[in-house]
Amino acid sequence: MVRVLVITGAGVSAESGIPTFRGKDGYWRNLDPIKLATSEAFARDPELVWQWYSERRQRIRNAQPNAGHEAIARLAQRADEFLLVTQNVDDLHERAGLAKAEMVQIHGDIFLTKCSRCGFEQEQEHEQEQNGVPRCIKCDALMRPGVVWFGEPLPLREAQRVENYLQRDSCGLVIVVGTTATFGYIIDWALRASRRGGELIEINPEETPLSRFATRLVRKPAALALPRLVDELM
Ligand code: APR
Repeated sequence: MVRVLVITGAGVSAESGIPTFRGKDGYWRNLDPIKLATSEAFARDPELVWQWYSERRQRIRNAQPNAGHEAIARLAQRADEFLLVTQNVDDLHERAGLAKAEMVQIHGDIFLTKCSRCGFEQEQEHEQEQNGVPRCIKCDALMRPGVVWFGEPLPLREAQRVENYLQRDSCGLVIVVGTTATFGYIIDWALRASRRGGELIEINPEETPLSRFATRLVRKPAALALPRLVDELM
């Protein structure tokens, strides 16, 4: 087996019942990201933002990892070296058996709650969510969901972990699943990882800006394509 990098987006959780952002019925089709996923929106109406994130947390709690998440966890066990970089803030990769050390949540974790002033972080209990906008036990400022909002930088420690993995060596296998590759760093990481002739496989029913760089295109849903691909690779 080889050194592997897997990059996932909302499409890998779509078959678990979690809406994507830009796909059909995606969140951003009906909701304005600027009104919900920016620090300005939070300053303007923290209740509205928390209501939306609480609904999303509940939907994720009610969801289960699918065969795509499980196939990625199997691949991790067989690879010489493995890293998953996910843009997803849900916990389905982890619930499918991936260890925290094998994955980077580059856009944060929806179940983490963070102080909007001092940065203090905590996992928030479900029942606490009912009581409106939580306050920081350290500085009493408003707590916000531990995710990366539009216009915000990537979390340094997480971005550094990706950088370290890419600098250590190239990958023989790169799989990019269920993302519109909207952000340049996603394409950059995929190309750098496969820089020495590694396979770059895109799994997505639709074309993306990454498609023209791929050595193989799989235009099928992730929960169908990933188990087959992992079986084939093994
Ligand atoms: N299997 C594989 N891919 C799928 C599936 C599926 N079952 N269903 C949809 N897709 C694909 C769509 O074709 C689309 O290309 O998943 C992609 C989802 O794209 P987006 O909704 O743009 O999600 P993502 O790329 O993860 O968004 C990136 O943008 O909104 C911000 O921070 C948010 O992390 C998110 C980031």
